[in-house]
Amino acid sequence: MGLVSLTEMCQKAYQGGYAVGQFNINNLEWTKAILLVAEEQKSPVILGVSEGAAKYMTGYKVVTEMVKAMLESLKITVPVALHLDHGSYEGAKLAIEAGFSSIMFDGSHYPIEENIAKTKELVALSNQLGLSLEAEVGAIGGEEDGVIGGGEIADPAECKAVSDLGVTILAAGIGNIHGKYPANWKGLNFEVLQKIHDVTSPTPLVLHGGTGIPDDMVRRAISMGVSKINVNTECQLVFADATRKYIEAGKDLEGKGFDPRKLLAPGVEAIKQAVREKMALFGSVQKA
Ligand code: 13P
Repeated sequence: MGLVSLTEMCQKAYQGGYAVGQFNINNLEWTKAILLVAEEQKSPVILGVSEGAAKYMTGYKVVTEMVKAMLESLKITVPVALHLDHGSYEGAKLAIEAGFSSIMFDGSHYPIEENIAKTKELVALSNQLGLSLEAEVGAIGGEEDGVIGGGEIADPAECKAVSDLGVTILAAGIGNIHGKYPANWKGLNFEVLQKIHDVTSPTPLVLHGGTGIPDDMVRRAISMGVSKINVNTECQLVFADATRKYIEAGKDLEGKGFDPRKLLAPGVEAIKQAVREKMALFGSVQKA
C-alpha cells in the first residue's frame, strides 16, 4: 500500500475510541524499525518528520522517496501516513511538493487571525490534493528542533474557530510539553480538554508531547477525543540508552562489533519495543 493521509485512519480511531501513534523519524534505522512494528502489530502508523529532521536527511524529497521505497521493499500492508510535524507555512508547501501525504501547519505562534488565515489557505490546498491537515492552537510547551513553546493552554473558542475551517485534526495545548516532563509538571488539563472536545467534536484531537505522560492520563485523553498521539523523545532516549550500554560493555571492540549494522542494532530493537508498547497503550494494535 502506498502512503495515505490521516483522514480515514484518524476518523476510524475517533469512532473506535483509540489513537494512532505518530512516531518521528530521523534516519533509515528509525523508519525501518517503526514500519516493521506497525506491520507486526497490524497497526496504522504515522511517520512524523520535523523540518529539522527533513533537513538532516537532506530534504523532503529524500524522505519521501526513502519511505515510499521502504513500504515496497518491506511489503508493508498497514496504512502509513508521512506527516510534516510542526510545519511552517513555507515548509508545508515544500513537503506537499515533495509528496508528503499529510501536513501539520503550526501557526500557533501567529496572532489567531493570521493562524486562521494561513490554516484556511492550507486546508483548501490539502483538500484539493487529497492530503490531510493538522492545525494547532495554543503552543505546546517545551522545545523541539528549535521550535519553542510556552506550555500554553489553548482557548476553546479559538480551537472552535480553527476546527470550523475543516481541518482534519486539531492539536491544542492542554499542558502537554515536548521532551521530558519536569518533576513539578501539573499533568494534562482535562477540564480544558473537555471544553475543547465539546466545541470541536467531531474533529479528532492530537496530543503532542507523548513521551512520559502517565498511561492513565493517555487513556483518559483518548476517551475525550484524542485520536493521534505524537511520540519522539522516548524513541531517542531508549535508542541512546541501548547504544550507550553496547559501547560501555565494550561490544564495539569485539570482532566486527564496530560495524554500524551491529552497533546500531540494540538501539533499533529498543525503538521497536518502545513503539510496540505505545501502540498497545494507544489501542491501535490490530486496527489496520
Ligand atoms: P515528545 O518528544 O515529547 O514525545 O513529543 C513529540 C511531539 O509532540 C512531536 O510533535
